[in-house]
Amino acid sequence: MTTQSEGRLDGKVAVITGGASGIGEATARLFASEGARVLIADRNAERGPEVASQIGARFIETDVRSGEDVQAMFAAADEAWGRIDVIYNNAGVGPNEDNVRDCPEKTFDLVYDVNIRGVWLGMKYGIPHLERAGGGSIIATASVAGLVGLSGIAAYCASKGAVIAMVRAAAGEWASSGIRINCICPGGIATGQGWLPEERIEQTRRDWASLHPLGRSGEAIDIANAALFLASDASGYITGQQLVVDGGWTGPDSRYDTLTGRDWTQL
Ligand SMILES: NC(=O)c1ccc[n+]([C@@H]2O[C@H](COP(=O)([O-])OP(=O)(O)OC[C@H]3O[C@@H](n4cnc5c(N)ncnc54)[C@H](O)[C@@H]3O)[C@@H](O)[C@H]2O)c1
Repeated sequence: MTTQSEGRLDGKVAVITGGASGIGEATARLFASEGARVLIADRNAERGPEVASQIGARFIETDVRSGEDVQAMFAAADEAWGRIDVIYNNAGVGPNEDNVRDCPEKTFDLVYDVNIRGVWLGMKYGIPHLERAGGGSIIATASVAGLVGLSGIAAYCASKGAVIAMVRAAAGEWASSGIRINCICPGGIATGQGWLPEERIEQTRRDWASLHPLGRSGEAIDIANAALFLASDASGYITGQQLVVDGGWTGPDSRYDTLTGRDWTQL
């Protein structure tokens, strides 16, 4: 489902990491259509500029693991537009890990560097810009993997749990400066461009549908809509929270339905 453009980000400047594909790309498109001036920051220097030029945004090649790159990213937005209002620290990786015993150390390090250090750097070097703007909104992409245990991706689960914890702690530090800090926990999103090879997307959509009580796997726009809410003034009284957007994956407990056979008259 797409959202009617209503200028909900008119006048705002937004920096989006991982904006070259998937959730970040959908968010960049939505933010631009809602009036924001958008800087896409991504490691992918082929697709990033392409997306940016389609929506009138700017692009900067950025590795979110590098403090230097992250500082340059914010400086680029500041130079272009003189302020920053919204930071979406969305870039992340989810490589094959295997079980905890067999996961290579370098895989663990990659997951931690991008998913935790990257989000931390995006707050560390972004906050001074938001302070100068008199406040703003910082959003991170966590995951349902930070809320429940998923076998085979323990480092990823831990990294997303860390994002949720960091957001809570940082929100308290910056609330009095008018800086709101929240994260989104998506369910399974078969976004495709980077996350999954193109030929596996449709099958993955079908496979993941049953995980989500709403009966379908998630789409990037589902998360972009949540990011739009957290970026806009409509969420002005929300900070330190995780917004779970998972089609009901982590809410209702289907094991209970198995126990009762969905016959609630005998309870
Ligand atoms: N797809 C899902 O099912 C799902 C579920 C929950 C959470 N997430 C999270 O959503 C976020 C976006 O993932 P997606 O599904 O859109 O995947 P994606 O692979 O399509 O997009 C990730 C983007 O991040 C960029 N990126 C990766 N490492 C980077 C780095 N070091 N520096 C800069 N950019 C980098 C990639 O180039 C890519 O453009 C991630 O944080 C991911 O963990 C995804």
